[in-house]
Amino acid sequence: MIIYFITSNPHKVEEVRELAADKGISIRHLHYEYPELQLDAIEEVAIASANHIRREKWAEINAPFFIEDSGLLIHALNDFPGPFSAFVFRKIGNEGILKLMAGKEGGERRATFKTVVAFCRDPDAEPSLFIGTVEGRIADRARGDGGFGFDPIFEYEGTGTTFAEMSTEEKNKVSHRSRAFTKFLNHILQHLH
Ligand code: IMP
Repeated sequence: MIIYFITSNPHKVEEVRELAADKGISIRHLHYEYPELQLDAIEEVAIASANHIRREKWAEINAPFFIEDSGLLIHALNDFPGPFSAFVFRKIGNEGILKLMAGKEGGERRATFKTVVAFCRDPDAEPSLFIGTVEGRIADRARGDGGFGFDPIFEYEGTGTTFAEMSTEEKNKVSHRSRAFTKFLNHILQHLH
């Protein structure tokens, strides 16, 4: 069975390919930039994106596909930027987030990373969701050269290292994305493979 991962982010593809390969599932990448709506929750954005692709592209893809939407939720900022993470990263980047966090210490720097996978199995059904989260804190300064996006400022609570200081393999052992995709890939193995 062929399952397509629709995304324009090659970093996500790399992380997910490693996870899928470990379970013997092959994922095909389809590069397609879909409009991302600005809604109040990451789940709502993922559902809207998957439904948009299902309606506009099913005839062309003609196979099960998934997308994923992720975001950083900083608790002292009322879970900002959450569903606006891509926009905020483009506009102010990690340095901008660090400025917003100036003066915040200890527990005030707590944050959650969240991934929502939206899977469309057929052209007529609403997507199924698989969600993963990981707890951490916003580092005092950017550290590490690996990963992408907010990785240099997100310290994993288990080790205190930032995601950018980890290899893909290490990040995949604990990340929000790997937790969401482990649920998703187990579902595929149990029901569809
Ligand atoms: P989206 O899921 O592509 O909309 O991601 C939202 C924003 O969060 C983008 O700026 C991404 O670069 C960032 N992001 C998503 N996943 C991760 C991750 O695993 N680490 C760091 N930043 C991420």
